[in-house]
Amino acid sequence: MIVTSQPSEFSELLEQARRAGRTVGLHPTMGALHAGHAANVRRAALECDLAAVTIFVNPLQFGPGEDFEAYPRDLGVDLELAEAAGAGVVFCPSTEAMYGRSPLVTVGVKGLAERWEGARRPGHFDGVATVVTKLFALAGPCTAYFGEKDYQQLVVVRRLVEDLSLPVRVEACPTVREADGLALSSRNRYLGPEEREEAPGLYWALLAGKRAIEEQGVADAALVVEEMHRAVRRQPLVELEYAAVVSPEDLEPVDEVSGPARLLIAGRVGLARLIDNVAAEKEDA
Ligand code: PAF
Repeated sequence: MIVTSQPSEFSELLEQARRAGRTVGLHPTMGALHAGHAANVRRAALECDLAAVTIFVNPLQFGPGEDFEAYPRDLGVDLELAEAAGAGVVFCPSTEAMYGRSPLVTVGVKGLAERWEGARRPGHFDGVATVVTKLFALAGPCTAYFGEKDYQQLVVVRRLVEDLSLPVRVEACPTVREADGLALSSRNRYLGPEEREEAPGLYWALLAGKRAIEEQGVADAALVVEEMHRAVRRQPLVELEYAAVVSPEDLEPVDEVSGPARLLIAGRVGLARLIDNVAAEKEDA
């Protein structure tokens, strides 16, 4: 596995691979890698000839008072995990290398990026879109793997690729969970033992909403959201921020569920702000 912090070397390695007829799979990350990232890298390595991982804690996507400074960083452990999962190249640039001069040009995302996470974290998706555009520009044509855990990010990245005609195919990777349902996240490290016990409550609430739609045939989204709120209240350490039933494509809230929908949830558990989501589908009556 080749590790580089130089943008030009990263580009050159991937370009050389393509010139040799090899396909490139890219998994952008902020490090603090866990089994969810490992599964995504393994998939990239299985489906492409060269799997490249990027590790960069992107300051542009953190707002004031968020956890940019505290965000876990352990490059040595990350490199071991990436290599074991089959990465051939890891790109871990410094902030200086990525944003040497404070950028005058950034990528702005309207509409769907202003809802849900975007409403709670103003500027977050502009920061994500800017760094992802830079990483795609450096990587060149590739298949990029993004986790469904950050569902809104996945939808934003798909739109970014479509609207800017970038030579990238985006693949969604299923969320990896602990045995009790908690979605793997680098931010789970902020949970204390009691908080860790209750944190899967967000997922259990999503399942309650999914059951309401799929097993009890509830179509009224307000009732589904009520069901999710009721489920979260069983975990007093979970402070709900939002629970919503949305269209899977544009994340607009739906009033009546018919066909496929996405259930979104976000909440705070102690110092950790966690998000999760599941698909749900209402069969025709
Ligand atoms: O999902 C993440 O880890 C980050 O938002 C990403 C896509 C690597 C951009 O910094």
